[in-house]
Amino acid sequence: MNRPIYFDNNATTAVEQTVLDRMIPYFTMEYGNPSNTSHMFGWAADEAVQIAREQIAGLLHADPLGIVFTSGATEAINYVIKGLGRGKTSGHIITVSTEHKAVLNACDDLAAQGIETTFLPVDKNGCISAEQVRSALRDDTFLVAVMWANNETGVIQPIKEIGLLLKDHPAYLFTDATQSIGKVPVSVENVDFLALSAHKFYGPKGVGAVYIRPGKPVILLPQLLHGGAQERGRRASTLNVPGIVGLGAAAEVATQCLESGYVEMKARRDQFEAVLLEYFHEIVINGVDSDRLPQTSNITFRGVQASEMMAEIGRVAVSTGSACTSGSGKPSHVLSAMGLTPEEAQGTVRFSMGRHTTKAEVEEALELLCAYAANKQPVSL
Ligand SMILES: Cc1ncc(COP(=O)(O)O)c(C=O)c1O
Repeated sequence: MNRPIYFDNNATTAVEQTVLDRMIPYFTMEYGNPSNTSHMFGWAADEAVQIAREQIAGLLHADPLGIVFTSGATEAINYVIKGLGRGKTSGHIITVSTEHKAVLNACDDLAAQGIETTFLPVDKNGCISAEQVRSALRDDTFLVAVMWANNETGVIQPIKEIGLLLKDHPAYLFTDATQSIGKVPVSVENVDFLALSAHKFYGPKGVGAVYIRPGKPVILLPQLLHGGAQERGRRASTLNVPGIVGLGAAAEVATQCLESGYVEMKARRDQFEAVLLEYFHEIVINGVDSDRLPQTSNITFRGVQASEMMAEIGRVAVSTGSACTSGSGKPSHVLSAMGLTPEEAQGTVRFSMGRHTTKAEVEEALELLCAYAANKQPVSL
């Protein structure tokens, strides 16, 4: 059977060949433990980790001292939220109803300690405003957690504006930038913490990083895992050197292709959406009126069961509105927060193209979708 067309790059991406090539020696030849400073195996591994730290820092315009390697974004998110909440019996967090479950559930976990969370509602495009954050701020707010871009819709939040308004408040700003890295420019300029994950931008799975703003005053974040003193005492466990090398290499490639990639991806996405708008009479592009990632199309096909449509079409691998909540079968919390009915959410498909999506693949997917439309909606054609 032919491999389907892969339009699910927000779920995960293929490891870039050049990234894999850089990783391989760290499995087979340079397999030292970077914590071991007594021989050259350890030195080589440590050097590779420091290079990766600089590559990531370069992409984020960050000080390399602020980068701590983790097992992915989920760990980075839990580290920040639970770390800041540790030992508190009261206090307040502001986040957004459309955040990834890692953020929402970590905030929920702190409720048992007496920490309250305000989940800001979004507008119909999935956006919040800095003004909403300002209105929700309290004297005891210690954290504002707002994702850079949403994984389901690609909608981008006003992080810079939120960061600027927090200059006058002691609350920290944390952004989950997992979906934005390599797609749009991301900088730590206005944030205290940032989470990312290699497998969303052509690096390997199981490795990510958290940025913790270095400098004064020092941000003391209790460790999530107790163990050794790796990562200057900030994250215990032997470093995943091949993974970290892959993360660094992926960041380097992302830095090089950011600008051209954005233009190409956006042109392809816009063309894709334009054709669908022409052929399907009852579709809505969710988040269309806001700033969006250049390769994500979240589309509601009214009156259609998205999972059935995509199964009938075959050949195109996507996520559907119900699958987004980790196979729970419930409508996506993101789409519900944007005001979609359960039926509309069930009719929604996330198409997420990638760096390697070809023009031919887009054309073929469009042909299949339009043929489906022609079949089901003969009057519109
Ligand atoms: C926005 C966002 N945050 C966090 C995560 C979790 O990332 P990881 O798989 O690295 O734990 C994901 C992955 O789906 C995501 O899309």
